[in-house]
Amino acid sequence: MKLLITGGAGFIGSHVVRRFVINYPNYQIYNLDALTYAGNLENIKDVESRPNYKFIKGDITDFNFIDTLFSREQFDGVIHLAAESHVDRSIKDPLSFVKTNVIGTMNLLNSAKDIWKNNFNGKKFYHISTDEVYGSLGDKGLFTEETPYEPNSPYSASKASSDHFVRAYGETYDLPYVITNCSNNYGPNHFPEKLIPLFINNIINNKALPVYGDGNYTRDWLFVLDHARAIDLVFHKGRNSQTYNIGGFNEWKNIDLVKLLCKLMDEKLDRKPGTSEKLITYVRDRPGHDLRYAIDASKINKELGWEPSVNFEEGLIKTINWYFDNKDWLRNVTTGSYQEYYSNQYES
Ligand code: NAD
Ligand code: DAU
Repeated sequence: MKLLITGGAGFIGSHVVRRFVINYPNYQIYNLDALTYAGNLENIKDVESRPNYKFIKGDITDFNFIDTLFSREQFDGVIHLAAESHVDRSIKDPLSFVKTNVIGTMNLLNSAKDIWKNNFNGKKFYHISTDEVYGSLGDKGLFTEETPYEPNSPYSASKASSDHFVRAYGETYDLPYVITNCSNNYGPNHFPEKLIPLFINNIINNKALPVYGDGNYTRDWLFVLDHARAIDLVFHKGRNSQTYNIGGFNEWKNIDLVKLLCKLMDEKLDRKPGTSEKLITYVRDRPGHDLRYAIDASKINKELGWEPSVNFEEGLIKTINWYFDNKDWLRNVTTGSYQEYYSNQYES
């Protein structure tokens, strides 16, 4: 099995690459990543010298590069995670999300179709997507695989578009594919532009915690290793032409999550209870902010036996401990262009 994993230097991708490299020594794992601001080879350093692992620096938006790579390597499978992934960045620069998430996915689809078209047997294109394609829930209900798409941000619209193209390649060209739509991940290696790692970093540095709007937005949180385990199962046992929702059965209003994080950080930093909460600052809301995401993950549970395994508070403690044990990682990713992003996003 020659398996191409895209975006393997990013947050979720690095955990997926590690799992496949270690669990499947007979597979040749190719990690293709452009190393954008979100990509970091430090995330995957521990497996880089394994004989079944190879890193390829490259951009999925570069059609000629992708086409040549597929012709040369003749991959058997693709797990596609590479993407622009941050909603706030998509509001400021939507076009780069179209380029990477739509055009980049198209390039991979075209190349996979071309090298597999004479024999689709045993081949699989696995597209990693998000629950945000379904839009926003009210106070009740869950996203199922049948929920109509209603993306509200340029990020989710670009992911929805790529999902549609994957499905269309299945219908039109018989490309064997599977799609999963997952809820919010958290855990080690999460880039500190997203809520949990950004707030951990700010608490360490005694900086304000910018809660958007009234903080009553709800997300369904899943520990990243549980997601990687689901991806492994779906890749090997998921039915072709299917989509599976993945979620944590773990809904939290942002403000409640932030207060829990503050409590755990006070304990970790030996600060007086209540110290970190004082940093909470309500700021201008995110435009088009989705009120609530919550996943019905019963299909993947019934078909493949998957369920989340990590309790939220334990997962948060593991995550906090990882950031404390990896202070250099955190320092390296929060200097340079991060400072510019931060002041543009939060201080202008
Ligand atoms: P991330 O931003 O941490 O990592 C993305 C990776 O893709 C980076 O390593 C980056 O260098 C690479 N990349 C970006 N543009 C590229 C390009 N043009 N060519 C090649 N590589 C490129 O993202 P993440 O949070 O790990 O998300 C991974 C995937 O999972 C994305 O498709 C995202 O939509 C999806 N997803 C994320 C979450 C979440 O909570 N983070 C939840 C559900 C689905
Ligand atoms: O649901 C899956 C999605 O989860 C993934 O597809 C995305 O790639 C991932 O980034 C994540 O999207 P969110 O927009 O939900 O994640 P984020 O961490 O940016 O925000 C979580 C919530 O916290 C959201 O309601 C906005 C809020 N927030 C976020 C930031 C960065 C704040 O209140 N303040 C902040 O500074």
